[in-house]
Amino acid sequence: MKISIIGGGHVGATCAFLVAQKELGDVVLVDIVEGLPIGTVLDMMQSSSVEKFGKKVHGTNSFKDICDSNLVVVTAGLARKPGMTRFDLLAKNSTIIKSVIENIVKFAPDSMIIMVTNPLDIMTYLSFKVSGFEKNRVFGMSGVLDSARFKYFIADELDVSIDDISGLVIGDHSESMVPLPRFSSVSGIPLVELLSEAKIDRIIERTKKGGAEIVAYLKNGSAFYAPAASAVKMVEAVVKDKKEILPACVYLEGEYGLTDICLGVPVKIGKDGAEKIIELDLNSKEKSALDESVKSIKESIDNISYLFTNS
Ligand code: LAC
Repeated sequence: MKISIIGGGHVGATCAFLVAQKELGDVVLVDIVEGLPIGTVLDMMQSSSVEKFGKKVHGTNSFKDICDSNLVVVTAGLARKPGMTRFDLLAKNSTIIKSVIENIVKFAPDSMIIMVTNPLDIMTYLSFKVSGFEKNRVFGMSGVLDSARFKYFIADELDVSIDDISGLVIGDHSESMVPLPRFSSVSGIPLVELLSEAKIDRIIERTKKGGAEIVAYLKNGSAFYAPAASAVKMVEAVVKDKKEILPACVYLEGEYGLTDICLGVPVKIGKDGAEKIIELDLNSKEKSALDESVKSIKESIDNISYLFTNS
């Protein structure tokens, strides 16, 4: 397996390191900043005798080096600063991502794209449209991260092992995301049996603002350990053909009553990428929360439609 990672910032570099440590494949880390990917990778490779990984990581400024990649993880673009929403990144990141995708189409036309750049759902849609790839080959990482945060806050509140928590967040990767307590449990015990509605509501609110809470502390960047670990979980599901059901941002064609939009829903992830969308029977409260998610994305898609209507 050859796994390329576009963007050598904190998220991209951490992805590269995790992929190498887990020996999921050889890695190419691409960044346009001269020296950055080369220095980062040299540092990483010097840990290989300590961490005992045998896979190669290659740092480069040249897109040509991604040729024949099986998977391309896209992390390029700007991150939020305190006070910004992910949508504030739309104008700058959509231009960057369009050009990244054109390079992927040129140099790795048979690859699969895992989008990580924000605003996630819009960048996934843009990638799907610009690449012309089949819909199973383009999907975004956000639900794994949002669900990971949800699960962590549940484990913390209950003071129980994180291992036994099952938690699901669907919808877009913004504060309109849709955590689903009805589809969350601890060792099979429904969450609603263990926590009061007020406590669940507090956890939901913290989950929705999970990224912003970290941005406010860091001041000059956003989270990267959990985002990178979440992207690599998706890489691993593909590489090992795990058929794992993970929330993923995918192109919808009628599922959940939605069309021509990319949104986070449960998806079976295996060697063919986003292999199957799982449709949940949502109740009216969950459905209207999902409608809010849709509203927040549609407007942004309209704002950048000039980038893909002619391609
Ligand atoms: C976050 C960013 C990466 O949620 O979207 O932390």
